[in-house]
Amino acid sequence: MNKVLNPIEFKQDKLFLVDQRKLPLEEIYNEYDSLEGTFEAIKTMVVRGAPCIGFTALFGIALWLKKNTYEPEKLQEAATYLKSARPTAVNLAFEVDRVVEMLKSGELDTDNAYKNVLEFANLQLEEAEAKNRAMAQYAEVELDSLLGKEKYQIQTHCNTGILACGTLGTALGVVQHLGEKERIENVWVDETRPYLQGSRLTAFELMKLGIQHKVVVEGAASYLMKNGLVDAIFTGADRIVANGDTANKVGTSNLAILAKHYNIPFYIVAPSSSFDISTPSGDQIEIEMREEIEILNYKEHRIAPHESEALNPSFDITDGTLITGIISEKGIAKGDYKLTLEGII
Ligand code: MRU
Repeated sequence: MNKVLNPIEFKQDKLFLVDQRKLPLEEIYNEYDSLEGTFEAIKTMVVRGAPCIGFTALFGIALWLKKNTYEPEKLQEAATYLKSARPTAVNLAFEVDRVVEMLKSGELDTDNAYKNVLEFANLQLEEAEAKNRAMAQYAEVELDSLLGKEKYQIQTHCNTGILACGTLGTALGVVQHLGEKERIENVWVDETRPYLQGSRLTAFELMKLGIQHKVVVEGAASYLMKNGLVDAIFTGADRIVANGDTANKVGTSNLAILAKHYNIPFYIVAPSSSFDISTPSGDQIEIEMREEIEILNYKEHRIAPHESEALNPSFDITDGTLITGIISEKGIAKGDYKLTLEGII
């Protein structure tokens, strides 16, 4: 199988990010040497996807340490600023908070703090591959015990492959894992309006991986499910809270509601860094509102009347009760998530 392309790399004291806004037409890497640049890259979605946002933020903290003298209070200010770039995915806060805590307990000089953060960031990226593979294996066992088919028709939403996760991927990692064993009949790729992560990024990855797929508009989901064209749905998560409510790309909850209606299993796949069990339910998750222009325009071209306004929530909350199972690198949780999630984080 081909490797798609590496979205994040840190070399010679600089961060290189593939500009995901330009994919699939152009493969361009932007170069960053500051925390402010990293903040902008996350906010403007040069880099996106919950796990990749978290890894990028770690490199952003390293870049801050390259330019500033390490003082815990000053670093805390920088961390708070960085965390405000995008509010919904918990991975950003999770990675930033734990590296700030790690430094506080170490009594390090600036040079060593920089080296430690870089080492830590690279280690998280390295370890992600084995974690993603473990999730995919749990998913395969689950599918086989539930459906027992030779090949599967999978539907997915948004983008959860290497571009979102820096490695194999979460929901798309499941697809790649099954694809490697020639167990994919077809992947239905939701185009994922308005940012088109599905048609621009997921389709691009599947094309590079040589996995059979078709792009569909989100509105086709009921048609597909009613006609027996979907065996199971796998999506990622930006935040999973104590009762299993899950924030993911807007449109995910529509899929889960339809899946319940048509009795199709619906799974969330995410690393333990996407879990936030200190939050009781999805009602407490902040949903990022993005600019209206993403909906009213297609690139530079206006498609809606100039007088029209739009509402652009970037995520929605899927009720935990609609989710057949939540899969992390530690296993699969089902049923009453208030009791079962603890076992997989
Ligand atoms: O707005 P994005 O592109 O950063 O959204 C993130 C996503 O791709 C998803 O919602 C995803 O399923 C979680 S990240 C693997």
